[in-house]
Amino acid sequence: MIERLRNKDLQTRIVTADEAASWIQDGMTLGLSGFTRAGDAKAVPMSLVERAKTEAFKVNIFTGASLGFDLDKMMAEAGIINKRLPFQADASMRKKINDGALYFVDQHLSHTAELIRSQVLGSIDYAIIEAVAITEDGLIIPATSVGNSSIFIEKAENVIIELNLAQPGELEGLHDIYSAEEQGMRGPIPLTSVEQRIGIPGISVDLSKIKGIVVTEALDSPSTIVPPDAETAQMADHLIDFFRSEVQAGRLTNSLAPLQSGIGTVANAVLHGLIDSEFENLDIYSEVLQDAVFDLFDHGKIRFASGCSITLSDEKMQDVYANLDKYREKLVLRPQEISNHPEIIRRLGLLSINTALEADIYGNINSTHVSGTKMMNGIGGSGDFARNCRIAIFVTKSTAKNGAISSIVPFASHVDHTEHDVDVLVTEQGYADLRGLAPRERALVIIEKCAHPKYKKQLLDYFEEASARGGQTPHILEKALSWHTRLAETGTMLEKEQAVIG
Ligand code: COA
Repeated sequence: MIERLRNKDLQTRIVTADEAASWIQDGMTLGLSGFTRAGDAKAVPMSLVERAKTEAFKVNIFTGASLGFDLDKMMAEAGIINKRLPFQADASMRKKINDGALYFVDQHLSHTAELIRSQVLGSIDYAIIEAVAITEDGLIIPATSVGNSSIFIEKAENVIIELNLAQPGELEGLHDIYSAEEQGMRGPIPLTSVEQRIGIPGISVDLSKIKGIVVTEALDSPSTIVPPDAETAQMADHLIDFFRSEVQAGRLTNSLAPLQSGIGTVANAVLHGLIDSEFENLDIYSEVLQDAVFDLFDHGKIRFASGCSITLSDEKMQDVYANLDKYREKLVLRPQEISNHPEIIRRLGLLSINTALEADIYGNINSTHVSGTKMMNGIGGSGDFARNCRIAIFVTKSTAKNGAISSIVPFASHVDHTEHDVDVLVTEQGYADLRGLAPRERALVIIEKCAHPKYKKQLLDYFEEASARGGQTPHILEKALSWHTRLAETGTMLEKEQAVIG
């Protein structure tokens, strides 16, 4: 422990998680470390959940992204959350959000730090941050994620550190903490290549703000992604074909351009598909580094990877932690404000791969709301990347729920990424390159290349009827959402005649 808690003054501030949790009062706002199950503050939130068994209180919970350890589930079920932002990915919390039992602000992940810095989100009473070490000088060394931890520490009135002895000490040295100035007083962020370090190796803090240090010993909870399947392998093949055509056209080289890949099973599987491709010497400039990034490392495909969290399956976590030395020189973890920064995304010219729940025939993408109303997870960083990257690629299986749902619909029931920010759409059926196409051209390409065969005729019928009415982006407004209402009424988006033929 002394090796991890090297600042002598702080050695007297060790408290139990229950004691730290007792400082939290009803109505407070907490900034918790944690990004897609990685590096989350674990013990104090759990003590808060315990406290809720005998006392009613509510707090606002701000994080980097989703929490592991079932913390979002437990806090939602304990009823202690008033407002949650900027992202979550838990089924119980999802239900509470959709039942209206708590407020959820679904926010671009690069925005939270700016909103905190400019005091739009009010003050943060406690930052509760997981660390693997505190240096002699009092630098906080984060664990497997940086997320929003640095802005929470900078702006919070009080800080509680969860010093996690189970997380590998070798994580020290991996982080690059850069703090942006206030807007209007800021120069360019000097990051011009993926591997560049522009900050310091830990988070600096006014030591008088550290109210307590809680010692913990638990690894992150593993990710829940499932392995690639036949359909995701087909999607990866189509994506590789697209990259090949870009190389042939002279717009990319065999090293492509820095890649960003979103969360979840599909994005992970599609990235995984690059293992068997001819592309090599790849750079990753992403948010979450999932299993596929380390699989690509192990196959010698990656030159350097930059992210803001490492989120791994159980098996991969054991393997990566046992071999951290192997990856250390080729990895950096940054604050999410930097990993997702528009200026850098545009400068580096990223190829961004994110997942859609549904896309409409003109290329508008819904990544968050099932049937237009029910929150799934949140937009996460997908908008940060799609809006600013070199090529915005969205992937989705062409159908969901055993074919009852077409992921290609006439009219997206909620729009996270507009047609203006979507360049390429990939399903297991093929890919549609939408760049330079007008809406009427886009519709035909998307239906032909991406829609599932059993929904193609329905989509074409809609498009033809709509086109007869005219317009830049033809629609039959009274029928635009009829696929979603049919799903609600009959359990499938298929029209009766098509279902019989199918
Ligand atoms: N309507 C209803 N449900 C749908 C659907 C649709 N059009 N398309 C997919 N689904 C369901 C699937 O059936 C699955 O349900 P299940 O969990 O009950 O099996 C679930 O959504 C997840 O879909 P899956 O195909 O397994 O994809 P995934 O794990 O890759 O997740 C997203 C897909 C869109 C939910 C996920 O990528 C996400 O939250 N994205 C938004 C945030 C983001 O892109 N961040 C990236 C920046 S890092």
